[in-house]
Amino acid sequence: LNPPHKALSGQDKHSFGYTTLQSRLPVIVSKIVDDVYRAYNGLSDSDPLKKEKEQEAKKIIELIGGLRYELQRDKPFRPFTDSREDVEEWNQALAEYYPTSSWYKASWLFSECYLYRRVKEAFALTQHWKDYDPFFEQKQTVFKSSQKAVVSMAVQLTTPVDPKTKKSMLDIKVQDGPESKGTRDAFFEMVQVSLWGNATDLSLLDNPDLAKIEELQRRMLSSGSSNNSSANASPAASTVHVDQVAQDSPEEHASELEKHADKILSNDSELLWSKVKSLRNGRVDIILDNAGFELFVDFVFADYLVRAGFASEVVFHAKRIPWFVSDVMPFDFQWTLDQLHRPTSSTSDNTPPTNFFNPTDPIEQQALQDVGKKWQDYVNNGIWKVTSHEFWTSCYSFYHLPTHPSAQDLFQDMRQSDLWIFKGDLNYRKLVYDCKWPTTTPFTKAIGPLGDGENKAEGVPVVVSFRTCKADVVVGLAEGVEEKMDKVVDNWMVNGEYAVISVSP
Ligand code: F6P
Ligand code: MG
Repeated sequence: LNPPHKALSGQDKHSFGYTTLQSRLPVIVSKIVDDVYRAYNGLSDSDPLKKEKEQEAKKIIELIGGLRYELQRDKPFRPFTDSREDVEEWNQALAEYYPTSSWYKASWLFSECYLYRRVKEAFALTQHWKDYDPFFEQKQTVFKSSQKAVVSMAVQLTTPVDPKTKKSMLDIKVQDGPESKGTRDAFFEMVQVSLWGNATDLSLLDNPDLAKIEELQRRMLSSGSSNNSSANASPAASTVHVDQVAQDSPEEHASELEKHADKILSNDSELLWSKVKSLRNGRVDIILDNAGFELFVDFVFADYLVRAGFASEVVFHAKRIPWFVSDVMPFDFQWTLDQLHRPTSSTSDNTPPTNFFNPTDPIEQQALQDVGKKWQDYVNNGIWKVTSHEFWTSCYSFYHLPTHPSAQDLFQDMRQSDLWIFKGDLNYRKLVYDCKWPTTTPFTKAIGPLGDGENKAEGVPVVVSFRTCKADVVVGLAEGVEEKMDKVVDNWMVNGEYAVISVSP
């Protein structure tokens, strides 16, 4: 926990770190209390353990209330008291680096990770709520509101593209081989879809307005076509583009797309393509960010990599504990697949009845079934794997991945991979150690041992980040971009409307 440069901190009143500690986290924490309250009020009278569960829930509410108090009064951090396997490591880090520190004095990254770990503690201390995810309901509601975009993509993926064989994108390998123009165009579109899927995370939306999220998806996905030179290239984004953006006048549409092309402030996707196109049956690791719509588009991207023959194995890394509100846990991963292909019997405790998405058109219903089933088959056949490791929810940045003792099993396994794709803002912050780097710092330098500097670790493959900007750090910008942005847009570094695609080859 010795950052290589000045770390972002809540002490800077003009920073998003300060705003987060001051206004956003207290709201997030209050919502946990509401959720637990609702959950225990909903316990059935016939549940023989109702009383015990109620008592434990009240205890959780008390602990979370205490946590909010400590945060708002900037009280010193205290050690953890539960018995999760990561406790010792957290307590060691607290004792060694932050013995007398508190929320605003510590680095923003540490304070924020500490908060989510403290939330976990409140549940981990119980018997009946140990595995409860207080963010699950929010994740579920927002995913449901993504129905239009999800259905639209599913239909595009399953619509026959070959009139003779009636095969759809899902049935066929990407046409004409990995180096064809179609495969290339589809790649750029996939990248954009996966990138902008990160724009709708829940921790930024204190009060998610579902209509707004839908609108955001519409706009973000319409941007997926901005780099696209071929009308039929996209199995995904162009659907949304055709169905919905068509309502705009051509001028409006053109300017919308131009705006979005400009919104990727540093774009290494050509470099990424040069790496990806040489892969044959490789292994790609996706370090996931958010559940819901973002996870769905991650599936779309992973499906493309497999279909094109670039990857024969995709390893998805999820979080073991509820994290930054919307992050994917292994449960969310399976739950999402379940909602698409609607199994007749549920596979997980909280699975709602079979019709989570309810498009009325049978073609749309079938499309969801087909994509869900295809992706479930990938999982069943070991082509897609979901895994989770304590390291992703530790207080450590990814500089520590190659050397941190408790991450060695993870690192050794990930070295087998050809490509690491880190999704989202928090993963980006952890890649660059959440420091206030000059914006022109090369990405390969800012990611330390995972990049190409002196302290470069052995065996790190191509490192990629798809990130919409939601924190006061961005690197890899050309000279003058920061100044230009400062002149024209307030809060451009944190408002989630700008993005970077960064690659360390
Ligand atoms: O709470 C702050 C933060 O870490 C921001 O960096 C970002 O807004 C959000 O939480 C997480 O975003 P993402 O889901 O993209 O990692
Ligand atoms: Mg997230």
